[in-house]
Amino acid sequence: MVAQMTLEEKAGLCSGQDFWHLKAVERLGIPAVMVSDGPHGLRKQDQSADHLGINDSIKAVCFPTGSCSACSFDRDLLFTIGKTLGAECQAEDVSVILGPAANAKRSPLCGRNFEYFSEDPYLTGQMAASHIKGVQSQNVGTSLKHFAANNQEHRRMSSSSEVDARTLREIYLAGFEGAVKEGKPWTVMCSYNRINGVYASENPWLLTDVLRKEWGFDGYVVSDWGAVNDRVQGVLAGLDLEMPASGGANDQKIVEAVKNGTLPEEKLNETVERILNIVFQYMENRKPETVFDREKDHEIACMAARESMVLLKNNGLLPLKKGGKVAFIGKFAEKPRYQGGGSSHINSFKVESALEAAAGMADITYAQGYDTKEDKVDEALQAEAVKAAQNAEVAVIFAGLPDSFESEGYDRRHMRMPDCQNQLIEAVCKVQPNTVVVLHNGSPVEMPWVNEVKAVLEVYLGGQAVGRATAEVLFGDANPCGKLAETFPIKLSDNPSYLYYLGEGDRVEYREGVFVGYRYYDKKEMPVLFPFGHGLSYTTFDYSNLKLSADRIRDTETLTVTVDVTNTGKMAGKEIVQLYVQDDESTVIRPLRELKGFEKIALKPGETKRVSFTLNKRAFAYYNTDISDWHVESGTFTIYAARSSRDLVCSGKVYVESTVRLPGKFHRNSTFGDVMADERGAAILKEVLGGGNLNGDTSDADEEKLGEGTAAMMEAMMKDMPLRSLVSFHETITSEMVDELIAKLNQ
Ligand code: BGC
Repeated sequence: MVAQMTLEEKAGLCSGQDFWHLKAVERLGIPAVMVSDGPHGLRKQDQSADHLGINDSIKAVCFPTGSCSACSFDRDLLFTIGKTLGAECQAEDVSVILGPAANAKRSPLCGRNFEYFSEDPYLTGQMAASHIKGVQSQNVGTSLKHFAANNQEHRRMSSSSEVDARTLREIYLAGFEGAVKEGKPWTVMCSYNRINGVYASENPWLLTDVLRKEWGFDGYVVSDWGAVNDRVQGVLAGLDLEMPASGGANDQKIVEAVKNGTLPEEKLNETVERILNIVFQYMENRKPETVFDREKDHEIACMAARESMVLLKNNGLLPLKKGGKVAFIGKFAEKPRYQGGGSSHINSFKVESALEAAAGMADITYAQGYDTKEDKVDEALQAEAVKAAQNAEVAVIFAGLPDSFESEGYDRRHMRMPDCQNQLIEAVCKVQPNTVVVLHNGSPVEMPWVNEVKAVLEVYLGGQAVGRATAEVLFGDANPCGKLAETFPIKLSDNPSYLYYLGEGDRVEYREGVFVGYRYYDKKEMPVLFPFGHGLSYTTFDYSNLKLSADRIRDTETLTVTVDVTNTGKMAGKEIVQLYVQDDESTVIRPLRELKGFEKIALKPGETKRVSFTLNKRAFAYYNTDISDWHVESGTFTIYAARSSRDLVCSGKVYVESTVRLPGKFHRNSTFGDVMADERGAAILKEVLGGGNLNGDTSDADEEKLGEGTAAMMEAMMKDMPLRSLVSFHETITSEMVDELIAKLNQ
């Protein structure tokens, strides 16, 4: 087909026909397929198109946003959401649904955090891959976005994320890597921003070397809407499709570039072929008979919200007794905030509020409490709420962030909730000791009142059925089973990116490096409000019998870890078992420990299940920029089975032996200490220099003679002495001999 196309037709196919359609080439039977947002619902626009969520789209179902569904830690759930979305797309003839969004959460302030999954790349990759597999099981494509290092909205179309290579690999690319390798998305959407100065949309390293050559991606890369800077550079770099369109201007540039030889025609052919492969993969396997049953999908949205919400705190008040006198306070009880603003905005066909859902469960009075239009205490509303709380046995305050506080397009200015809501909570707590706060927000908030309330239920932006799911959890019809996919710091300035976030002008330096989220708070031993992986249940779980399949492995082998988990409480529930890996000793500056496995299991009271994890090289490795590859430093690692990143229950140790010798590891300025720390290096040094005290360790007798201070100094100086100095301090050793020694060490 490509061979039959004219140069103009080929160039034309590289951009959209309109906002949501690719171009048709009628004479060759190439249809104009449609793509639509995404990611947590179908935003199919029939009439006026925009990428800001302004004009209406068809009535659809809004599922929990990424920040919420990630807290389920449930691969099957993400698959089910994806599968449901895929079927909706089939029914509506949409070839690709734009998402999931796999950017890492660098700061709680990013306006789009609600769309993103986590601060942890392993969890992100797993969630995104499951979503992708679900959608694509219906023969509809996904567009994994926004590739890459797009972690703020401020100057989103021009800022340059200045990130060192190791941090990119370990944090900002790793989530995408997991999603691409495991999920195999049909398409990837490049981001608006630049990475180390080069626009993502024209970055050959990103779009070709890493994405295609290293990770094996074989679909088409689409630009984020309007992300193209230089179209010809884009084609050369591996950007296939420009969306929406450039009025033909960029197509013309492609034609000219082929004609004047700056763009080889084979490059263009490959681009066109990649687009057509996906177009026809969709067309040839259409399932037009699929029905979009909104009511049925609403139930899935409800289940997803139930499985994802996180019980952050509970002093025994929850679950609430049915039939009691309960005050529901706060506008979100009646009108839940269940999704974020911007391109992911869904035109929900219905929304269930907690107020209507709980109607039959208790004697409920409602008071609005605050308004969301402006952050100002409304004395009358607050007084009414306090009275309602006073007259009830329990007050449940539905609070959180209004739409204007977080959205695509801009970042939050602070991490606080509206003052009027904080004040309302304080006022209610003064008259009602049994107060619960239910939070609707896309990203962490500070909670100055946390010690005054008995319980906090984080429901995030839980989709259109969030109200019912909340009522079910509050009154014990469902047992909460989500855990935080991100840390809630106590205050914004605790966050590692705090000093540098948003950058200077267009330049945003990621100076905190790999220390993002819990990787930072744990290493710094900092208190946090709620740690990564934290979430309570109405039952309790015990862990026992942690076993490793070996106490020593090579980095080419895998390790199996098993642990028994028992439901020791009285209610059926689900536990998310987390596996963290810690490098006990490392010459590389690394996070204390990192999440490398998780499983969610359902347990009846008294029931025990064995959970099994398989760890491979990657679980122990860091990214070594000298060899541009993942590398394991030989040594002992501790494996923890944990309820959260701060609740480590049991552990085991394994020695992992590296099978890779780092090339050119030793040089003239390597120190004796460096060489002696290497098992083989130490042996060679001893052999060449004929034993002796190479560590600089001083004997007790010497120590007495020299005094402790001098002995310690000699020991340190010896360790830090470069190999080249052998020539200065050993009369018999020549410079050539040092070179020979180094060659031997590096063999
Ligand atoms: C957003 C994307 C979205 C696209 C189409 C862009 O502004 O960044 O996430 O898919 O618009 O609406």
